Amino acid sequence: MAKIAVIGLGYVGITTAVGMGRLGHDVIGYDISSDRVMVLSEAKAPIHEDGLEEALGSLKQSGKVSFTHTYQEVSDFKADYFFICVPTPQDASGAANLTFVLAAAKELSQIAPADAIVVLKSTVPVGSGERVKQALSRSDLHVASNPEFLREGSALHDFMKPDRIIVGAASEQVSTRVLELYGDISSRKIATSVESAELIKYSTNAYLAMRLSFVNDLAALCEKVGASVDDLVDGLGSDSRIGPSFLSPGPGWGGSCFPKDTRALVSVASDFGLDLPLIDAALESNEASLSRVVENIKELAGGSLEGKVIGVWGLAFKANTDDIRESPAMNIVARLLARGSEVIAFDPVALAPKASGFSQVQNAELAAAGVDVLAVLTEWPEFAQVDPIKVSESMKSKAVMDARRVLPVDAWRSAVDNFRVLGG
Ligand code: UDX
Repeated sequence: MAKIAVIGLGYVGITTAVGMGRLGHDVIGYDISSDRVMVLSEAKAPIHEDGLEEALGSLKQSGKVSFTHTYQEVSDFKADYFFICVPTPQDASGAANLTFVLAAAKELSQIAPADAIVVLKSTVPVGSGERVKQALSRSDLHVASNPEFLREGSALHDFMKPDRIIVGAASEQVSTRVLELYGDISSRKIATSVESAELIKYSTNAYLAMRLSFVNDLAALCEKVGASVDDLVDGLGSDSRIGPSFLSPGPGWGGSCFPKDTRALVSVASDFGLDLPLIDAALESNEASLSRVVENIKELAGGSLEGKVIGVWGLAFKANTDDIRESPAMNIVARLLARGSEVIAFDPVALAPKASGFSQVQNAELAAAGVDVLAVLTEWPEFAQVDPIKVSESMKSKAVMDARRVLPVDAWRSAVDNFRVLGG
């Protein structure tokens, strides 16, 4: 079994640490935040992720995974592999900022034993492997790229049952060593160059984002021509060349990856003098999707948003997570506030910062009381269980926009005066 250090304990790092521990490896997780390390050391989950707390609990008992906020302890651990999982935020131009990655590489250059492999899990633009190699500046260390494809909310499941495992490295010997860490996982394992691995990650996210923009544009067309978007998606996804997953229309795509990675890919291409017009169009289409939802709410509010009270169900960027980074719901709420509306929101787990300019209440019913329009912006399944008759009785105007297609249409249509569902 290998000794693995995981640097950075966000979604990717925590999942990697827990996943590698489950595969039987000895793991130390490092994060700069002592608070986060303390929480994890007590086997508590600092993020909302299915099964994470149970997994942390059993790994704590077996002693397979420990956490630290000092590089000294990482050094003492004498790992053979160092997984860099720190954030790569977007800078003003849309490019990925490598400050944290390169800072981690500098630290590792001081402590990594000879022949160790530094594995990049953070999403980094093509060419970053080379920059990390320079930051390490040690010929006895190796660099590999092992992009993650984890979805928040099902990250542990995705780690243990991935569609494929990609490892990019300069030599077959290094890629084989990294792939062997995943020995017990039966998924297809693909060894590539570092550059190809880096590009596979970006192109996967950009392709999925384009696919959603395509579906969201067609949902808008369905509304206009009276077609059913459910039937359209069913028919489209039944073509085996297209496939049925990842085709649910929504208010727009968001989260910590898609917006950042699509912009970063466009930025990398432009550094090489290339335009990527399809990806540009996907970003533009996403803006249009978000605007369409706001326009729908405006129409339901009687043609103006000024002074109207809008109830919002859902703030997270998707269901089953507490993450609001680049959330379409938060984006739409900001647009409503900018146009003079008051917003009362409910989310089962996500919390917006106090200074966001709107109030957050404890349950779905409270977020509908006295409102001019109720908008459903995240697809939490529990919203479908709320009684539409009870809710409609407390609304000021009985107008509802379901931008996630989660509410039972017939029940809501008969309970309220005006019910709109994205995609018609
Ligand atoms: C994504 C990628 O799926 C994952 O492989 C990568 O590692 C990180 O980025 P995640 O950000 O967790 O994962 O979210 P995902 O489930 O992919 O959803 C992204 C956005 O698309 C969300 O806003 C979601 O609501 C939206 N979406 C997704 C849809 O609108 N319809 C769908 O059918 C699927």
